[in-house]
Amino acid sequence: MVSNKMRTRGLTATMAVLALGLAACSSGGGDEKPADDNKGGDDLISVGFSQLGAESGWRTANTESVKASLTEENGIELNFVDAQQKQENQIKALRDFIDQGVDVIAFSPVVETGWDEVLQEIKDADIPVVLVDRTVDTTVEDPYVTWIGADFKQEGTTAGEWVKANVPDAKIFELQGTLGSGAQVDREEGFDAVVGAENIVGKASGNFTRAEGKAAMEAALQAYPDMNLVFAHNDDMGLGAIEAITDAGKVPGKDIKIVTIDGVRDGLQALKDGKFNYVVECNPVFGDQIVDAIKKVHNGEDVPKETIVVDKAFDQTITQEEIDARLY
Ligand code: AHR
Repeated sequence: MVSNKMRTRGLTATMAVLALGLAACSSGGGDEKPADDNKGGDDLISVGFSQLGAESGWRTANTESVKASLTEENGIELNFVDAQQKQENQIKALRDFIDQGVDVIAFSPVVETGWDEVLQEIKDADIPVVLVDRTVDTTVEDPYVTWIGADFKQEGTTAGEWVKANVPDAKIFELQGTLGSGAQVDREEGFDAVVGAENIVGKASGNFTRAEGKAAMEAALQAYPDMNLVFAHNDDMGLGAIEAITDAGKVPGKDIKIVTIDGVRDGLQALKDGKFNYVVECNPVFGDQIVDAIKKVHNGEDVPKETIVVDKAFDQTITQEEIDARLY
């Protein structure tokens, strides 16, 4: 069977890329719908949005952006459901959206696999899918019309390049995100390829949360006493690692350097305060791009298969003004 894992590739290492429509344009979810085939009231487009959870500062900012953009003023009737990081909750929400006969389904999948059945059901119901943030790995053909998110692999590569250039002899502990999620799989692949497996002393998942990141770091401090650098797949787990390192009597950012991904305000403050050493941004504020995609998909207009959200990276030269000006 053919696997349709959607991946993003080929961006420059600077990360300061423009938002791009990469692949060839595709048609918006099959046949163009007649003007009166709008299941939302008053010409609103009804959208079922399954958010994967509220596990991190990034996710909170992403949810705020989605809710601020998918509004009646913008022509959207939104049914937003939080899955609390459980795939079964997401699958239930997606089936509910099918039963409700929404015009468009948007969702951010908690993990990559396990969607074949429900994606086929959505396809059979002729409801177009806008994939948000994370990626899917499915045998269903053309499982979504368009995807909007970050280049996770490039984020990992950028983090790895900083480590290689600045701490070439690093003994690295990798704090992984939710195992099997696109963000974990691709960040790890990008990072590991640059730093080399021989420099990684251990790995464990902190499920993208501060509490689980702290617990995983506490265990790692016991298991890998020679570790001198943590690569955390998001800021929240890195912030949990700061607590564990401090509790162990060591100095975060000095005795054990910390490299993270996201760039939420708390993370960048830790960077400015010298507790983080490098942060690769993953921008969660792209609700406007989601609305634009939903409208085009609903109207049967051409949309790019992939749209990459702008990312950059920060080191300890970041200023307080830059942090205070952040939207999240
Ligand atoms: O999928 C994006 C990732 O999910 C963010 O980096 C992380 O903070 C979140 O939980």
